[in-house]
Amino acid sequence: MPKVVVVYLSTSGNTKAMADAIVEGAASRNVDAVAMNFHEAKIEDMKAADAIAIGSSTFHYKMLPPMEKFIDSLAKANAKGKVGAAFGSYGWSGEAPIMIAEKMRALGMEVIDPVLRIQYQPAEKDLEECKRLGKDIANKVKTKYTKPGSGAKPKDAPMMKEVKMGEGGH
Ligand SMILES: Cc1cc2nc3c(=O)[nH]c(=O)nc-3n(C[C@H](O)[C@H](O)[C@H](O)COP(=O)(O)O)c2cc1C
Repeated sequence: MPKVVVVYLSTSGNTKAMADAIVEGAASRNVDAVAMNFHEAKIEDMKAADAIAIGSSTFHYKMLPPMEKFIDSLAKANAKGKVGAAFGSYGWSGEAPIMIAEKMRALGMEVIDPVLRIQYQPAEKDLEECKRLGKDIANKVKTKYTKPGSGAKPKDAPMMKEVKMGEGGH
């Protein structure tokens, strides 16, 4: 089953709520989807993923430096060619998801356009948008997975271990 990993940095839970809704949407399309706080995400989890969605809220007009470092570390996770998506809650300028998408593209990932940004706490309609993104990610990854000559082979990897989704990923 294709694997979708949704990694987030969220200080007060807004981006985490988006991540959970993205997972819900992806899982409804029969892929193995999991959300994890970025500092709990391991390089092996990223290597095993067919799609990686990354979310961060915006602080001082950018993402926080530890998240930047995390994304840079994906260079070691064979990220090239994987499906990518960027999202995040913001207050007034919302640069972080755009910066995430740029970094993902620089790694050679196929990033879904446009990025998904929600102002402050996501409302019900915003969560529906997040679920829609999850479904889009799943559909994209499934198409790649089954496309002849894509190089993607059906694999029966074990389920990713459950990661506790805590608050406050600084
Ligand atoms: C110290 C601080 C700096 C912030 N800087 C920005 C900013 O530059 N641009 C912006 O759009 N939002 C900014 N915000 C707003 C947050 O991005 C917003 O509250 C977001 O919903 C937090 O989401 P989270 O709970 O997922 O971390 C800032 C918030 C704080 C507390």
